[in-house]
Amino acid sequence: MRNIALPVLLAASVGLVSCGSAPEEPIEQIIVSEPGGAAAGVKQAAATAPAADDLVSQGKAAFAVCAACHSIEAGAAAGPGPNLNGVIGRKAGTAEGFGFTDAMKASGVTWTEAELDSFMTDPAAKVAGTSMTAGAVNDPEARKAITAYLASLTQ
Ligand code: HEC
Repeated sequence: MRNIALPVLLAASVGLVSCGSAPEEPIEQIIVSEPGGAAAGVKQAAATAPAADDLVSQGKAAFAVCAACHSIEAGAAAGPGPNLNGVIGRKAGTAEGFGFTDAMKASGVTWTEAELDSFMTDPAAKVAGTSMTAGAVNDPEARKAITAYLASLTQ
């Protein structure tokens, strides 16, 4: 499952980065020489972090799918899709600096966690005529994590 595989991949890539420029050394040797280093720390976090923080960090990783089109930092320019910072609680189609479809503007949706979950499940079913034609998320756990991540960014 993606929400389990991503932290493991992240742990692996952080481990590789922390190896510096010695690709010929065996990985075991590097880990043993840095028992409290970044690689060990991240692996442990992925296995044992408390549920709420873990969900947000899983959501942050899973948001990579959305980041192809959506910026997320406050005030960042819109891309192919609108900036999603603070989207929870916002009326659909009202983010500044983005040309929404009439369908989105007239949807009457205010983005709660439940509305977001339903939109991610099938954007066109939720808002008929939306120009968001990619980015559906089939895995309910991944949707939950992405929603938790977006909610964590709402002031
Ligand atoms: C291929 C580009 C693309 C991807 C990938 C994508 N989106 Fe979108 N998204 C859009 C576009 C374009 C719109 C504007 C739709 C409209 O105006 O009808 C949009 C609109 C939205 C909106 C409405 C925002 C508002 O202010 O009303 C939400 C919420 C949203 N996307 C969430 C997501 C999430 C969460 C993901 C990842 C799971 C995602 N999107 C992936 C292109 C994308």
